[in-house]
Amino acid sequence: MKKLIIANWKLNPTTLKEAQRLAGSISSKAKNTVVLCPPTIFLSQVGFKNLGAQDCFWQERGAFTGQTSALQLKSLKIKYCIVGHSEKRATGDTDEMVNAKVKSLLENKITPVMCVGFGTTVEQDDLEVVDILRHQLDIGLKGVDASKVIVAYEPVWAIGTGKNASPEHAEKISLFVKTKYNASKVLYGGSVNLYNAKPFLDQPNIGGLLVGGESLIPSHFNQIINM
Ligand code: 13P
Repeated sequence: MKKLIIANWKLNPTTLKEAQRLAGSISSKAKNTVVLCPPTIFLSQVGFKNLGAQDCFWQERGAFTGQTSALQLKSLKIKYCIVGHSEKRATGDTDEMVNAKVKSLLENKITPVMCVGFGTTVEQDDLEVVDILRHQLDIGLKGVDASKVIVAYEPVWAIGTGKNASPEHAEKISLFVKTKYNASKVLYGGSVNLYNAKPFLDQPNIGGLLVGGESLIPSHFNQIINM
């Protein structure tokens, strides 16, 4: 079955030319569905079939300096938008803000990719993780039709560290999120690379991957999207 693979470029690359070159080097005929999330400033000029934003604001218009709304993303035909990434939560995004962003995206027919995850140590057991995720999910999905939302499970300790969660742990969490919250898909993210991606994709309840650093290396990413 086709899986969904989302590239989160974060604050990379630094020029439009490089962004266009990077997007142009990603296979458009991959086995799996691929979404590229470049920095917002490049969204309108990076040509790729499926594009996503890395964040949005919950108000559609008005006196909100520096923000980008779901309504504006819709005008660019953006199909997906990440919200609640731990790097945004670290700079102040709360579960309530994430919830407001999810609602605004759905009103504008953009699929939210809501990131959840916590933990500064690999030692947390599944039950501890579920307990924390429950809080993020209860508030983040409050009043929302979760069947229209993609949830990305990203343990904070696994992001950009080279230490990924085990596929079995991610599978258990995915099953929990799917059965308890009815999310349309659950993705895994956190130090996914060419060498560890396949066992995640082989799990029945993991719907795909949210890839950071490795999505900037076309020779690796093109192999992941064809696994
Ligand atoms: P890395 O793949 O670089 O660990 O980043 C994961 C991530 O945060 C994707 O959103």
